[in-house]
Amino acid sequence: MSRCSIHPSILSADFVNLEAELARISTADAVHVDVMDNHFVPNLTLGLPVVERIQEVSPVPLDAHLMISEADRWAPLYADLGLASVTFHAEAAAAPIKLARELRARGSKAGMALRPATAVEPYLDMLTELDMLLIMTVEPGFGGQAFLDVMLPKIRRARAAVDGSGAKVAIQVDGGISASTIERAAEAGANVFVAGSAVYGADDPAGAVEALRAAAEGTVRA
Ligand code: DX5
Ligand code: ZN
Repeated sequence: MSRCSIHPSILSADFVNLEAELARISTADAVHVDVMDNHFVPNLTLGLPVVERIQEVSPVPLDAHLMISEADRWAPLYADLGLASVTFHAEAAAAPIKLARELRARGSKAGMALRPATAVEPYLDMLTELDMLLIMTVEPGFGGQAFLDVMLPKIRRARAAVDGSGAKVAIQVDGGISASTIERAAEAGANVFVAGSAVYGADDPAGAVEALRAAAEGTVRA
């Protein structure tokens, strides 16, 4: 059984009570922080000063998902906060290899995300530059959307490429992950799962995290 990680997204948490909301997911492997700029995506969330405070009070490491334009300029500043991992969008980066190297040089894991309509193939030669590949399973911008099953073949191709490359790259999925979809994503080859509404919409978020992890680990490919 491979180890699967669950990263609750605070996009579905109460933004006025973030410290208490973070305490409710102490069973998580990391907290997924969605940064949106109302430019790369049609929604606005939070930025550097708030992420800095979240980092100070969070019981688990931070996994920042930057849905922002000009990633080359902004992502290194998030790494400078000491975040465990920083994920930029390939579509928003002018020089993704250079940027991934800058993130690692600053001590963060380097993640790169792909919108649903962005093919993974043009990026396969840079897998060794990444610690995590995020395959969006909804159009980025909002929580609570339905999982796009049409992304499953892309997850499978990414898994085959990662395994073939020998690089240690996590495959993260984000969007519509719940008790009823996580098994399909795990079977296709994902091993890091973001869940917003499925965790924060539950009466017991910490228990929901454990149930999601058990479901994923029970079905993940050998
Ligand atoms: C969407 C965000 C997600 C979002 C997922 O653009 O990147 O992280 O919070 O929410 P759910 O799990 O509700 O689809
Ligand atoms: Zn996200």
